Amino acid sequence: MATLLHLDSSLSPAAGSASRAVTAAFRKAWEEQHPDGTVVYRDLSAEPVPHLDGLAASAAFTDPSTHSPEQAAAFAERLELVAELEQADAVLIGAPMYNFSIPSTLKAWLDQVIVMGRTAGPDSPLKGLPVTVVASRGGSYAAGTPREGLEFVTNYLEGVLTAMFGAEVDFIVPELTLAASNPSMADLIPLAEVSKENALADAESKGKALAARVGAAA
Ligand SMILES: Cc1cc2nc3c(=O)[nH]c(=O)nc-3n(C[C@H](O)[C@H](O)[C@H](O)COP(=O)(O)O)c2cc1C
Repeated sequence: MATLLHLDSSLSPAAGSASRAVTAAFRKAWEEQHPDGTVVYRDLSAEPVPHLDGLAASAAFTDPSTHSPEQAAAFAERLELVAELEQADAVLIGAPMYNFSIPSTLKAWLDQVIVMGRTAGPDSPLKGLPVTVVASRGGSYAAGTPREGLEFVTNYLEGVLTAMFGAEVDFIVPELTLAASNPSMADLIPLAEVSKENALADAESKGKALAARVGAAA
């Protein structure tokens, strides 16, 4: 039975969030293919995972029998997140752009689940794991735009997910989401609408195609 790990990290609730709308469309298409499958959901904004601290970080490199009760507790929480990732057949991540980069809540999750020698490294058991990222942003950072060089969401996630896990990363990018509310972007409203429609259509088709592929392999 296929398992999807679905993470959202927008600080906006569903009604006002571009990334949540698109991850929901992807998930719906996935669930239609896997009605008996499992979706594990985490809202990293509503219920943030803790920042990685020294106890949980060092626990990964020391014999569990030597862990203090505090270190064991911190590591247990980390291992719960790791297990969710290891059990996933595919991962879906809502990753809005905040100050040119990913939400700190998503970074905290990454720091928890990247465990060298277990999930991460050259022999990662997650090699080939399909990860779909919905990278919403208020402006546009597409090739040839003035802010192209300030794009640290897809560049970062592609780098970290590939280098650490050997994941197979795919992006859906709803852009110009602030056009409707920012008067200085009024001219961009038509482009924003097209981007939104394309992102929702991509989510539906990619969710369906990935579910079929993963289902066939499971
Ligand atoms: C704290 C914060 C920082 C933001 N920084 C950027 C930014 O650097 N570049 C940008 O294009 N949009 C920025 N935005 C706009 C969001 O990327 C945009 O609203 C996007 O739609 C957020 O995804 P969501 O709709 O799923 O919440 C920022 C929004 C917030 C709340």
